[in-house]
Amino acid sequence: MNAINIDDLRSLARKRLPRAVFEFVDGGALDETTLRANQEDFQKIRLMPRVLTDVTTRNQSLELFGRRYDAPVILAPTGLAGLLSRRGELSAVRAASRHNVPYCLSTMSTCSIEEIGAEVDTPNWFQLYVLRDRELTKAFIERARDARCSALVLTVDTKVQGPRERDMRNGFTVPPRFGPSTLLNFAMHWRWLLDVALGPKIKFRNFVDTSVDADNAVTITEFIAQQWDLSVTWSDVEWFKSQWGGPVLLKGLLSPADAQHAIDSGIDGIIVSNHGGRQLDGAISAIAALPAIADTVAGRIPLILDGGVRRGSDVTKAIALGATACMIGRAWLYGLAAGGESGVARALSILRDEIDVSLALLGCSDISKLDRSVLV
Ligand SMILES: Cc1cc2nc3c(=O)[nH]c(=O)nc-3n(C[C@H](O)[C@H](O)[C@H](O)COP(=O)(O)O)c2cc1C
Repeated sequence: MNAINIDDLRSLARKRLPRAVFEFVDGGALDETTLRANQEDFQKIRLMPRVLTDVTTRNQSLELFGRRYDAPVILAPTGLAGLLSRRGELSAVRAASRHNVPYCLSTMSTCSIEEIGAEVDTPNWFQLYVLRDRELTKAFIERARDARCSALVLTVDTKVQGPRERDMRNGFTVPPRFGPSTLLNFAMHWRWLLDVALGPKIKFRNFVDTSVDADNAVTITEFIAQQWDLSVTWSDVEWFKSQWGGPVLLKGLLSPADAQHAIDSGIDGIIVSNHGGRQLDGAISAIAALPAIADTVAGRIPLILDGGVRRGSDVTKAIALGATACMIGRAWLYGLAAGGESGVARALSILRDEIDVSLALLGCSDISKLDRSVLV
């Protein structure tokens, strides 16, 4: 595949996908200031390399919740990946397993928890949106356990959906409200048409045979308004912990005060995230939020940076600032759209190679030794 960096994968994705689908992936909330800040704030960070150190071998492997992984990168949960490439989540989990990095399945996936569990031997993570129907929420937790998931990720920054104006303009709603120009644009993307539009029906497969008919949801926003539990608070964390019985991570924290709350509530991991700039526009970037949260957490539980990672050096910067690992969202989605499983694998090898070069040039042989001394 002709892609030497993540931005090349983005260009390929842009060519391969109909505009409405590409913009669904690429876009963010309102003026997209947080979306841009996620990347720009990484670029503002300058590194301070050290010389004449032995970097003959470099190690970027790490241990997370009792398992050893080959790189400090986790595939973030993303809904509707099957819209980018046929059975997209299956391709992603295969690529993650080949690279020995965790894959986190979204509640809103187009392949079910069971299909993903059966696909690979390695355990996956499951991301849960808290639904009003507690029995259904509980059923999801049980299904994730039966499918050998090893960590439960509660996304807590999505009480309502962030307004995404590119999607509104494109009629990208469920069901879609596509105008003639959008339909013509779909027709012009024949490879995508053959692969996705003429493939198995796109559904939120985790909801098939449940009390929620996700097929008939009028729009995603309405679906969320109907199903998401807006009343969840810190007092519910204990319930999730006891239902799951394994590591529970909170995804979507930006405030050190919330990080402290998480620690006090016995949470096992924090994902510093603004949902890739798709929720509160104007929110602090993930990388800018990281240092204060890292100071609060002080190494007591794993800390994952999520948002804006497009280069291996972004990963080394986040780890130097106190992260244990990084989640990537669009980076793997662009790869998926560009080339299915091999595109996701390409995204992962690009980042792995860039992390390796970054370590060598920083004069650091082991990623676990990175600290703020490599930052200006
Ligand atoms: C198309 C798309 C769908 C997403 N769906 C979900 C989801 O279902 N659950 C969730 O917790 N986060 C979701 N996210 C957010 C990602 O998990 C992650 O936080 C974000 O993509 C990180 O930013 P990045 O894309 O700059 O790496 C989604 C992001 C995108 C781009």
